[in-house]
Amino acid sequence: MSLRPTGEPAAARAPTGTHDVLWPESARWEALVARFAAEVERAGYGLAHTPLFEDVRVFRRGIGEDSEVVGKEMYEFTDRGGRELALRPEGTAPIVRAFVQHRPALPWKAWYVTPSFRYERPQAGRYRQHHQVGVEALGPADPDLDVEVVDLAHGFLRGLGLRDLTSKLNSMGDGACRPAYVELLRRALAPVRDQLCDDHRQRLDANPLRVLDCKREACRQATAEVPRLVDHLCDPCRAHFERVCGGLDALGVAYEVDHRLVRGFDYYTRTTFEFAAGSLQAAQNAVGGGGRYDGLVELLGGPPTPGIGFGIGIERVLLACDAEGAFRVEPRVPDVFVVDVAGGESARDLTAELRRAGLGAERSFDGRSMRAQLRAADRSGARLAVLVGPGELATGTVSLRPLRGGGDQRRVARGDVVRAVAEDLGVSPGVGCAEPDERGPERRERG
Ligand code: HAM
Repeated sequence: MSLRPTGEPAAARAPTGTHDVLWPESARWEALVARFAAEVERAGYGLAHTPLFEDVRVFRRGIGEDSEVVGKEMYEFTDRGGRELALRPEGTAPIVRAFVQHRPALPWKAWYVTPSFRYERPQAGRYRQHHQVGVEALGPADPDLDVEVVDLAHGFLRGLGLRDLTSKLNSMGDGACRPAYVELLRRALAPVRDQLCDDHRQRLDANPLRVLDCKREACRQATAEVPRLVDHLCDPCRAHFERVCGGLDALGVAYEVDHRLVRGFDYYTRTTFEFAAGSLQAAQNAVGGGGRYDGLVELLGGPPTPGIGFGIGIERVLLACDAEGAFRVEPRVPDVFVVDVAGGESARDLTAELRRAGLGAERSFDGRSMRAQLRAADRSGARLAVLVGPGELATGTVSLRPLRGGGDQRRVARGDVVRAVAEDLGVSPGVGCAEPDERGPERRERG
């Protein structure tokens, strides 16, 4: 059988709107996720993994048939067994579906890191596969939980070093007050219908709320004077919103009440929020957003259970960090590089021994020359080389050569290598050299 390709050559490119994240850029991703995990776990959230695809009804019911994401952007497919499935466009509905299935004890606080798939028009900061870190907290209707969740997201973004950041807050009301407001808005928009952008002129009847957050100038002008939902909340929604605002004030979280903040999913009730990075283009400047969804568990077949959460877009956050020179991460470099020109067995055994002692150890392969191995050692960024030549092999020793910051080469007994390397690196074995499993994904963050 011929292995030569036939027909169209396979396109050796990632699909449009997707991208590879390779080393060393991936070190930043790892550091960002590790930092997020540490912060939300301190607040009691536990990691949840759910499948990347779900029964399509989870999203149709949960997010809403009329939403842009479900109507235009979902990657839907039928599997070989005839099931209708969709790649997840977001992280909330799957977590709520998992809650309904497993019924963990309340309150249930979950965090996740996940790719999300949306068939959008790709551009800088807008992808067909993007990645989110997020949390969902189910159970309490207490507005103080809203404060906790907004503060977590805000604190995480600020902690990365982002300064040009605006937090927007709004209330979407609930089933008691929103329908009357939507009617009011529809009536207010009817006389200016012709001034709206094409999209919203057509969709005004289906969902007048979406006109409010249209970025086009025509819609913005036409909606400048319309009634605001925050002025038409029912008493319980108003009290909830006031408590959230008061809580954020008490914690020193700066925010703007933005009556145009109408997020794109139908599940939201009461508190919604979004974080805009000033360094990014307006159409893609939301680095994170979320809100309360007190009816979603019921929509997906569970008992009435309030919930709130947020998602933060990893790509956009890193773009904003780049623009602000924030969150620079040094990729990990090996501690030592073993150079072996005496057959290779020493490199094999020494790297294993050093790694088992918790040190980062690298080596060359394929019997390369001393010069080539030393060049590789230098390029690796290691601070120290462990050299083994015929002289060392014959005398049961190794040579330690500093590669950074000067110092003399010295010989030590082969059996003493871990202690001597740790000494030259300024770490004591068992302290600086943690057990490999304990080292975790920690990265050296710069600045
Ligand atoms: P979302 O606002 O659609 O909310 O997405 C959250 C974040 O993901 C956005 O703020 C943005 O940073 C990023 N993002 C969204 N779409 C794209 C894209 N096409 N390309 C790059 N980044 C993107 C949600 O997904 C909700 N599930 C958040 C939530 C959690 N609400 C309650 N709980």
